[in-house]
Amino acid sequence: MISEKMAAAFNKQIKDEMYSSNLYLSMVAYFEEIGLKGFASWMRVQVQEETAHAMGLFDYLLSRDGRVVIDAIDKPAYEWSSALDCFEAVYKHEQLVTSLINNLIDVAEQEKDRAAVSFLQWYLKEQVEEEANCSEICAKLKLIGDDKHALLLIDSELAARTFVAPTIA
Ligand code: FEO
Repeated sequence: MISEKMAAAFNKQIKDEMYSSNLYLSMVAYFEEIGLKGFASWMRVQVQEETAHAMGLFDYLLSRDGRVVIDAIDKPAYEWSSALDCFEAVYKHEQLVTSLINNLIDVAEQEKDRAAVSFLQWYLKEQVEEEANCSEICAKLKLIGDDKHALLLIDSELAARTFVAPTIA
């Protein structure tokens, strides 16, 4: 059985992952609106990933006999000035999520919940990957500046991303 404090921290992270999912869904709409279908498609995969992250925490909490409580999710942003502006927001958001996962691990360590500390290592590794992906896309977008042709090439590149359900262990 998981402690109440730990369960509350997991429930908060479930909410935060669902917020991420909604934020990226909002970005799907933005990219569809400005005609960058590849960016929109990449972001649709991101929505699925975030929902999978939330469900991983959800199922883990259930497996530890913790009470899952679904909280209200704040309204995400919906306007950005460019693909770069949007991806800089993604990068900033992922850095915030990394700090939230670190905080969650701090709680697990305070509670001496070694099983939860071990489980959350997957999320830490995932954050390194997520930050690296966003940083790479931001760097490319900065590099191309106002070159619309290059932007469309990146759009085609991003369209190739497919969702692979993660094995969260
Ligand atoms: Fe669930 Fe993108 O962190």
